Amino acid sequence: MKAKAIIMTAVGALALAACSPSGSNNEPSEVGKWPSDVVSETGDISFPKGFLDWPTLGAWSTADETGKANGMHQVYASPGTAAAYRETGEFPDGTVLVKEVRSAATANLSTGAATYATDKGVWFVMVKDATKRFPDNPLWGDGWGWALFEAKDPEKQVATDYKKDCLQCHVPAKDTDWIYVEAYPVLWKDGKPPIPKWLDSVKADINESDDTTEAMTATAVAVDKPAAYNVCGSCHSVEPGKSGIGPSLAGVVGRKAGSSEGYSYSDAMKTSAIVWNADNLDKHIEDPKSVIPGNKMAPLFEGVVKAEDRKAIIDYLKSI
Ligand code: HEC
Ligand code: HEC
Repeated sequence: MKAKAIIMTAVGALALAACSPSGSNNEPSEVGKWPSDVVSETGDISFPKGFLDWPTLGAWSTADETGKANGMHQVYASPGTAAAYRETGEFPDGTVLVKEVRSAATANLSTGAATYATDKGVWFVMVKDATKRFPDNPLWGDGWGWALFEAKDPEKQVATDYKKDCLQCHVPAKDTDWIYVEAYPVLWKDGKPPIPKWLDSVKADINESDDTTEAMTATAVAVDKPAAYNVCGSCHSVEPGKSGIGPSLAGVVGRKAGSSEGYSYSDAMKTSAIVWNADNLDKHIEDPKSVIPGNKMAPLFEGVVKAEDRKAIIDYLKSI
């Protein structure tokens, strides 16, 4: 039994090395069957290689604060999930969900401005666990196993603690087993769109961040915010003390890392002795895991490739 599992993992690793993550020669999982090709005996989650052949639940398009589309999220579920969910209102034990996050581009087609997916970036993976199989594993809890893979090395699972890396952002969907089910038509019972349960909390969030947006616009007028900063703006306010998904970046140059009042930092960032300057900021935004390993921006953001964009961003940060 053990030997078999090891061989399967080795074959899986080979297949993954030999072809792109879309390589799809593994068996589709059956409803209610535990996906032992994806979950090891100790609860390690590996990349679900065949997922591109699975049915999709639905998709999301994201935009930066100017409204320009900047991402497409396609959500896949192991075969049979949707029918079972429509019948029981629950995800069967062993369900695997994959959210594939890609960059997006918009083109003027015959339908108007049409946004489509481009480069792949990261994959968020969840495995339904109805029986609390791995109580001591920090990637398992609240009914699911939680995992994250990045395009540069999809063999490596990079999430460390689902409570820090995932759960908070899924709180608006807590009543529906942490999944944003109301956005996925194939899960709708009578084919009718339900009113999303998360809308109230989202509305509250949007209202709260309204003045952030205003403050950001005002600052932009005063100091000429570069377009390259837009990508940061979806997570970072530049208003002092105003937290979003990330901490406020007001006055960040010259500030000790992890010290913006009121933001709940990762331990890695909170306990770091680094003081932000142009040099280490350049490294941090080129590769967010390089300067402070284990910080929680790293799994969310791939980094800024172009040196001139990084310079424009840092010059701007110095000025605010
Ligand atoms: C920044 C907030 C945020 C973080 C962090 C986050 N998620 Fe999500 N996740 C969302 C939102 C919002 C959606 C639905 C909308 C979207 O994709 O834009 C979603 C959707 C998903 C989906 C598709 C199914 C669903 O719930 O609708 C999966 C799977 C998923 N996330 C897994 C994870 C895992 C695993 C982690 C941690 C490794 C994680 N997420 C971290 C906010 C987040
Ligand atoms: C998807 C969300 C996201 C994006 C996009 C993002 N960040 Fe972050 N950033 C975070 C999070 C979350 C943290 C907190 C990290 C921690 O606590 O470990 C953070 C932390 C930081 C810090 C440390 C701040 C402090 O108070 O010590 C800096 C500096 C920073 N980010 C700069 C940037 C810049 C510049 C960009 C754009 C090039 C950017 N970030 C893009 C989420 C993001």
